[in-house]
Amino acid sequence: MTNGDITVLMDETRVFKPSGDFVKNTNVQQWMNKHNIKTLAELYEKTKNWEWYWEEMAKELVEWYKPYEKLVEWSPPWVKWFLGAQYNIVHDALDKHVKTWKKDKLAFIFEGEPGEVRKITYMELYQEVNKLANALKKLGVKRGDRVGIYMPMVPELPIAMLACAKIGAIHSVVFSGFSAYAVRDRVNDCEAKVIFTCDSFYRRGKKVPLKIQADEALKNAPSVKHAIVYQRTGDPVDMQEGRDIWWHELVKDMSEECETERLDANDPLFFLYTSGTTGKPKGIIHAHGGYAVGTATTLKWVFDVKDDDIYWCAADIGWITGHSFIVYAPLILGATSVMYEGAPDFPGPDRWWEIIEKYKVSILYTSPTSVRLFMKQGEEWPKKHDLSSLRLLGSVGEPINPEAWIWYYKNIGNECCQIMDTWWQTETGHFVISPLPVTPLKPGSATFPLPGMNAAIFNEQGVAVHNAGGNLVLTHPWPGMLRGIYKNPQRYEETYWSRFKDIYLAGDVARTDSDGYFWIQGRADDVLNVSGHRIGNSEVESALVSHHKVAEAAVIGKPHSLKGESITAYVVLKKDVEPTDELKKILREHVGVEMGKLARPDEIYFVSDVPKTRSGKIMRRVIRARAMGREVGDISTLANPEAVDQITKAT
Ligand code: WTA
Repeated sequence: MTNGDITVLMDETRVFKPSGDFVKNTNVQQWMNKHNIKTLAELYEKTKNWEWYWEEMAKELVEWYKPYEKLVEWSPPWVKWFLGAQYNIVHDALDKHVKTWKKDKLAFIFEGEPGEVRKITYMELYQEVNKLANALKKLGVKRGDRVGIYMPMVPELPIAMLACAKIGAIHSVVFSGFSAYAVRDRVNDCEAKVIFTCDSFYRRGKKVPLKIQADEALKNAPSVKHAIVYQRTGDPVDMQEGRDIWWHELVKDMSEECETERLDANDPLFFLYTSGTTGKPKGIIHAHGGYAVGTATTLKWVFDVKDDDIYWCAADIGWITGHSFIVYAPLILGATSVMYEGAPDFPGPDRWWEIIEKYKVSILYTSPTSVRLFMKQGEEWPKKHDLSSLRLLGSVGEPINPEAWIWYYKNIGNECCQIMDTWWQTETGHFVISPLPVTPLKPGSATFPLPGMNAAIFNEQGVAVHNAGGNLVLTHPWPGMLRGIYKNPQRYEETYWSRFKDIYLAGDVARTDSDGYFWIQGRADDVLNVSGHRIGNSEVESALVSHHKVAEAAVIGKPHSLKGESITAYVVLKKDVEPTDELKKILREHVGVEMGKLARPDEIYFVSDVPKTRSGKIMRRVIRARAMGREVGDISTLANPEAVDQITKAT
């Protein structure tokens, strides 16, 4: 079966059912019992009344300062949830726990790459957040102000996020692997008043300097008045008089109490930048109330989090997975999370398995890229460790190929842990299509839309199709839904809502099978998915073109056995520039400097032209087909059909 550019090769028929004993004790089964729901089919049927479902979940999971008057107001494409409620997510994440036995429960077990361990209780986290929140207030940060956070995986990163949220400031976290220029663009777009960073951090036994990058970014970021610098490694750094402040000095005399700002439930909590088809990354806006209900609900149901679990989401907080499922949702549920600073294979390929054994991790959530890396290293590494504490596994970021799924199931889950393959996006805020722990699984399928959600496959005419492929869409609003793109309502409307009326276009292609299972096939648009991270083709192209020797560039993704996709660039050099291997290396590093190492092309080819339409749009689809040795189809609309042969020759 073919679907546009995507060929469906998978024909996976195996079904994996959870054991009866396991099902009996799950959060979802207990909820079903309470509501007298007998079967999974009945659950999905009943929760088609999504307004009812979300009201029930809000009642269970969050506490408002003042209750809401109206559940949802949907005037497409704009949504508000829990209207009239006074709220702050930090109340649910911290304040409510310190009034109960949970104050002494561990919120985070942090392990640094060099091996040091910090165990942080809910009370300690609460106090650290309060001290920092008081310090931010003293610096003049107010409700609605933006704060940039450019920090690695240390507990101070969630502390900084929560301190901002506490006082009603909006955080914008930038992944610590991004370069100075990426930081500068994001900080400028949201006009951050303050940024957080650190001296350096540990990665694969080395220290990675971060403050130097932040300094570079701040050369052209006029809105930033202060940089708060956390001391992670003790490496010497330049501190700019009047602007830079050490974290430890700033919080030294601050009170451990700080009143949480009572906000409107629809006030923004954070912006997180993500790649789109064109232009600069989009500042996706999420709001306090809906995001809290959506993330806490889906975590509680999908990963079945309970009081005695040790839960480990091994993502980076710099991406949405970390925001939702390391920071906010686990804290709202009062869970204990493991947080690890460093590389998965340092000092040896069994670092993760050692961590699982040591802390008796019961739930592990990671990406197909990591699973494939572990597969490559071999099953002898997990075998060295006792992984019997695990009871549930998860996957996110890209489609998981059945081979990796089975490996994960056998070698990590010991053939008794169900795998939650969660499909969602920065924009959705929380899981959308995902199994519940009680769902019979098919390896490689994210199964069904969760209760309270509705997804469908639309053909080009906007008609829902079944047992066929097409555009993945969401047909009604959900609590964690994005509230727009910062400063760009038009782009919000165009990107997600212009294709089908009042229907959210996810930008992925997917199909359903005859049992209604969803199979995600990949991006429909020109967005790359490298190791589960979104990178816009156009961003890499513009990074290449920013080099003085480059005239033009076209970037495509190719299937890659470890990373899912790898980046291939076709580069047209300026007149009289010599195409050398040395220059390829320089351009690769140039992209690293402009965007971050993750975006560096794996392959660069020099060509004298790239295929374009008459209006000058680069035909990436044609290039991709040629690079993969496939037929390119009709090229009569190209301005320069001969450029197609260039691609063939180069590749
Ligand atoms: C892809 C990450 C297949 C998809 C949470 C989506 C997936 C994009 C899955 C969002 C999955 C995410 N199976 N593909 N389980 N999860 N994706 O915004 O293409 O970084 O549109 O959010 O990742 O990436 P983002």
